[in-house]
Amino acid sequence: MDNNDFSSRAGASVGMTADAIRVRGGKPIQGRLKMKGAKNLVTKAMVAALLGQTPSELRSVPEISDVQVVRGLLEVYGVVVESDGDTLRLDPANVERAHETSINAHAGSSRIPILFCGPLLHRLGEAFIPDLGGCHIGDRPIDFHLDVLRNFGAVVDKLPTGIRMSAPEGLHGAKINLPYPSVGATEQVLLTAVMAKGRTELSGAAVEPEIMDLINILQKMGAVISVDTDRTIRIEGVDSLDGYSHTALFDRNEAASWACAALATGGDVFLEGAQQPEMITFLNVFRKAGGAFEVQDDGIRFWHPGGDLKPVVVETDVHPGFMTDWQQPLVVALAKANGISIVHETVYEQRFGFTEALVKMGAYIQIHTECLGSHACRFGQRNYQHSAVIAGPVELHGADITVPDLRGGFSHFVAALTAEGESTIKNVGIIARGYEHFLEKMQTLGVDFEVIG
Ligand code: EPU
Repeated sequence: MDNNDFSSRAGASVGMTADAIRVRGGKPIQGRLKMKGAKNLVTKAMVAALLGQTPSELRSVPEISDVQVVRGLLEVYGVVVESDGDTLRLDPANVERAHETSINAHAGSSRIPILFCGPLLHRLGEAFIPDLGGCHIGDRPIDFHLDVLRNFGAVVDKLPTGIRMSAPEGLHGAKINLPYPSVGATEQVLLTAVMAKGRTELSGAAVEPEIMDLINILQKMGAVISVDTDRTIRIEGVDSLDGYSHTALFDRNEAASWACAALATGGDVFLEGAQQPEMITFLNVFRKAGGAFEVQDDGIRFWHPGGDLKPVVVETDVHPGFMTDWQQPLVVALAKANGISIVHETVYEQRFGFTEALVKMGAYIQIHTECLGSHACRFGQRNYQHSAVIAGPVELHGADITVPDLRGGFSHFVAALTAEGESTIKNVGIIARGYEHFLEKMQTLGVDFEVIG
């Protein structure tokens, strides 16, 4: 299959693929990469297209397997999806019911299916959600989602194979207060409330830039949504929505990942399409850790300016805090910093599993159950290993490692880049879930590697 063929169904090409690679480290990465639309926006924008009376057009869509999964699911429901380069056209004119087996076949590796509920209840009066996949970084429950949907009037039946929902009397606006500013649950409210009867008030909402871009899209479609500074979102339901035409917000998680790779390897990368406003918190930490950056009109250059890297104390948090998806590659750079760093993970309870491989490669990292941050988080009293102490500087050495999850996997790859000697990395396919043309980008940056499986 042509590596650039983006027109086939789920499981299709996401660029050059590999299961295992051998990396010879110790060389700075250098070069220019283009950042495409954010994984955590594009997949939701594709779901939003289900709500339109007319086709939607989404630009800057990355070739990643999560996009392929959502595309496959949309097609199962009768949405006609066409691609032209990095543009997707999604026509929901003939949305129809789908069989459980087809839904299962396409949904296996993603958590996005839960977000199909609101749009499908509006379009078809019912929805089926199979067991959800996604990265194994904690329990990742869906209780907020189910509570939200029940608030709108959905009837939820748990079956052995998944969850079936119906809305015998249609969906109506609701007053909802999220116990935690969950990204997914906020998106669930948005995608459901826009066409529910009456008004919805959501307090305790997540306000990540990807959510704001989803609101941009829904407003283009005809929705009425306002966002207050106190995490309250108000939505006035409308009877129908049109399609949208939109260029997706860049992937700030991918940008932060490559920036940390440049810092850890002593390299220099220009990330075309990266923008400052969505990365302000990251840029502050990057600078404090000893990194240099320059914001330009068409992107941001990140580099290691020489001298020692410095230790930092970081707490992950919901936006506008330091994103949980940024800490994993940063930890590799901190292993090389001169002193003791602390990372307190407050979003997911089990997100330091990836450090085991770094320790195997020579990093000095201890994980603690205490909250080693400026505030006690909801994991502190519950025995979760969620604070990391990283002592540096250390020289990492090559090792055989297996990718555990998307962001953890990227950090293993960064560790292999900085390490003396060879590393074998297995399960690299997971990285293609969220990093477009990962292997091609390694070539562009001058990484010495080969595909071995
Ligand atoms: N939570 C619940 N119940 C729920 C939903 C969430 O307890 O019903 C908890 C989670 O267990 C977690 C916290 O709330 O402890 C935050 O979860 P959230 O719902 O915000 O996360 P998500 O929507 O499942 C998205 C991204 C993640 C990113 C988080 C936080 C997508 C597809 N995923 O997940 O991205 O880390 O928001 O910003 O948008 C990644 O890209 O690698 C990734 C994991």
